Amino acid sequence: MASVSHTDVIATITDQAVTEVDATQNEEQLEAVRVRYLGRKGLLTAQLKTIGDLPEAERRDFGATVNAAKSRLSRQFESRLLALQRVSRASALTSESVDVTLPGRRNDRGGIHPVTRTVRRINEIFHRIGFDVAEGPEIEDDFHNFGALNIPIDHPARAMHDTFYVDDDHVLRTHTSPVQIRYMKTHKPPLQVIAPGRVYRCDSDVTHTPMFHQVEGLVVGVDVSFADLKGVLTYFAQEFFETDLPLRFRPSYFPFTEPSAEVDIGCIFCKGTGCRVCQRTGWIEILGCGMVHPEVFRQVDIDNEAYTGYAFGLGIERVTMLRYGVDDLRLFFNNELTFLSQFR
Ligand code: FA5
Ligand code: MG
Repeated sequence: MASVSHTDVIATITDQAVTEVDATQNEEQLEAVRVRYLGRKGLLTAQLKTIGDLPEAERRDFGATVNAAKSRLSRQFESRLLALQRVSRASALTSESVDVTLPGRRNDRGGIHPVTRTVRRINEIFHRIGFDVAEGPEIEDDFHNFGALNIPIDHPARAMHDTFYVDDDHVLRTHTSPVQIRYMKTHKPPLQVIAPGRVYRCDSDVTHTPMFHQVEGLVVGVDVSFADLKGVLTYFAQEFFETDLPLRFRPSYFPFTEPSAEVDIGCIFCKGTGCRVCQRTGWIEILGCGMVHPEVFRQVDIDNEAYTGYAFGLGIERVTMLRYGVDDLRLFFNNELTFLSQFR
């Protein structure tokens, strides 16, 4: 009987579909099975279309059989879908779980680097007494870094600077003094200027780093004297340290100044009794200075009969370590947040 074979076919298709549904591993596979059996062109849907081939009397039973199969299969899909969703939700919960006992994430506040802070402070202190601010290149030619500063090629003073050479004629500037030359070539006296910036020397210990900062000072005018230099540096030290640290002018030598001096500040770490930081001397050198050498004026076409001038070069990290009580200069460049965050 035709109807019996039709019913058998439906049972076979349905059993097959149920097996496939149970075998699916995810919603995508399940949907593919659904379309194959129950979709518009699905296998079970196709069966319903054969109803027209049946004798009138069998159609009702057949229709009922197909519909029963369809709803059995639909229920099977529903429960499989729920099962699959439960599994995927459970795995999402474990992989994306939030540990509510963890401390919240903070946004760390940034701060200005102590060296930058000091440069700004120094600029401000000199600005108050009428100094301009100038800058120069960090890769400098031999002429500006040495020659024009009265340090010819074979001069022993070159050994005072452990120079990084870029090529035969260029160096990483070893001090900010070349900015004096650049400034005097482009400005006529009277002038007073400071020039802060990075400088480089092959040098490293508790008071030396290979890259450090200096601020150059230069004053040129009529009757500018060593007493003016001493007055300005004393003013600076008082403003900068805001305490009465002892200041000492010690005769020294620079090819570009005459006479020359170096200025030391009483060591704040040992109060002058001698320690590792001041190398047991009780003093820490912060700058070199002197009266501009006539040969330097000659190099930049300034009349050294009409004008005199003074210059100084201050180590910025040195005064920063003294002001903040940092006993190793290298700490400024290790970029350790525990250190830097103290300056926020
Ligand atoms: C000079 O560099 C001269 N150009 C200074 C000068 C300018 C003299 C104008 C006269 C007229 P000196 O090499 O001493 O001098 O360095 C000046 C200061 O820079 C030192 O007193 C010290 O404070 C600082 N300094 C020198 N080397 C280092 C270093 N490796 N690390 C950190 N600070 C340094
Ligand atoms: Mg020195």
